[in-house]
Amino acid sequence: MTHQRVNLNSIPFLAEDKARSICREFGTPVFVYDQRTLEHQAGLVLGFPNAFGLTVRYAVKACPTSAVVKVLSDSGLHIDASSGYEVERALDAGVPPERIQLTAQQVPDNLRALVERGVLFNATSVAQIQAFGTRFPGRQLSIRVNPGLGSGHNNRTNVGGPASSFGIWHEHLDEALTVGGKHGLKFTRLHTHIGSGSDPKVWERVALMSLDACSRLPDVTVLNLGGGYKIGRVKGEETTDLQKIGSPVVEAFRAFAAKHGRRLQLEVEPGTYLVANSCALIATVIDIVDTGRGGYRFLKVDAGMTEMLRPSMYGAQHPIEVVPAATEERGQMKYVVVGHCCESGDVLTPASGNPEALQPRLLPETRIGDLVVLGGAGAYCSSMAAKNYNSFPEAAEVMISKNGLVELIRKRQTLDQITQNEVMPSFLKRRAK
Ligand SMILES: Cc1ncc(COP(=O)(O)O)c(C=O)c1O
Repeated sequence: MTHQRVNLNSIPFLAEDKARSICREFGTPVFVYDQRTLEHQAGLVLGFPNAFGLTVRYAVKACPTSAVVKVLSDSGLHIDASSGYEVERALDAGVPPERIQLTAQQVPDNLRALVERGVLFNATSVAQIQAFGTRFPGRQLSIRVNPGLGSGHNNRTNVGGPASSFGIWHEHLDEALTVGGKHGLKFTRLHTHIGSGSDPKVWERVALMSLDACSRLPDVTVLNLGGGYKIGRVKGEETTDLQKIGSPVVEAFRAFAAKHGRRLQLEVEPGTYLVANSCALIATVIDIVDTGRGGYRFLKVDAGMTEMLRPSMYGAQHPIEVVPAATEERGQMKYVVVGHCCESGDVLTPASGNPEALQPRLLPETRIGDLVVLGGAGAYCSSMAAKNYNSFPEAAEVMISKNGLVELIRKRQTLDQITQNEVMPSFLKRRAK
């Protein structure tokens, strides 16, 4: 069957014959990114409503592969990095330093060098203000505030409120100002990010609370409201309407300007929204087993938590489509799809929001050797996997260009690369003799 599309809304960029040919050329498991979808998503975020100017940062933690970073950077996006290493990867991908902001839990040892190159630093604690101030007295600085309220699609992705360690607790702003003042720092940028998959209503409330914090920081000219915008991966999951959540914030920025005489620039920094549905993971069915009457039928694939940890970590749902090795009519059957790791938690079809429970999925009857395509694989999959567990190598990654060309963007890792930093200590070598 030629040119038949994988019949799934969330993988509109991948046709069945394309999936087969990619696997023939690059093997499985393989991540397949789509340039056109990435650029489309970038365009949507660049249209975020704003009163006095907008900068969009791509939160590279979602997927730091250099080709993905380059597509989004070339589309006009700046970068939010979560570690000094992510900064360096973005620089290597060709992003100008002044377009990168570092918001990290750990201050990198080379902070001085990065800031001297022009990278922006966003201090996420009073100790980080101190660390920046001792190195760069008298400079401008961004600070991240925990506004007292958070929201995520579960507790692990909620990064605001009293149970979260991210950012300076809103009641400690005076202390932040005192420490900043000691070093002659000026807080010119304020940052809040309350979680991934946040409730749009809570996000809106936090936007207003953040404006309130700006009124206590007289030098602030830029307000970064973070990322966290929901994207639906499977039917029934919502996608945040950026126009809808952004419009009331425009009004609030105008009201702030009228009251305080400051026209604040808006920044947003999504990861998921930009990349989640821009990628699919293709795996091969390696085995099918069952546990008898009243049990389950398991479909085992050559990927799993080593490429896609979200299902076993959060009970996250990803669309799954079967591409038969040979085209023929097939019935449907319920399967629990599991990964290749010797780990009972390596499940790709858990119950929604409950990684402990199995949720069989109705799929076309499947045979060993068929392909399984997992959609919504662009965010926090290749970047947040149980890498090298069971010594499985990192999967290959390819990108489909706007012209339909498929090129490698990350080679499959080799066993030598997995073990290259291991060293046999001399006392064991001696014993071996
Ligand atoms: C500071 C910061 N900004 C942006 C993001 C991006 O979030 P999302 O991928 O949910 O849009 C994160 C994610 O954890 C974050 O920690």
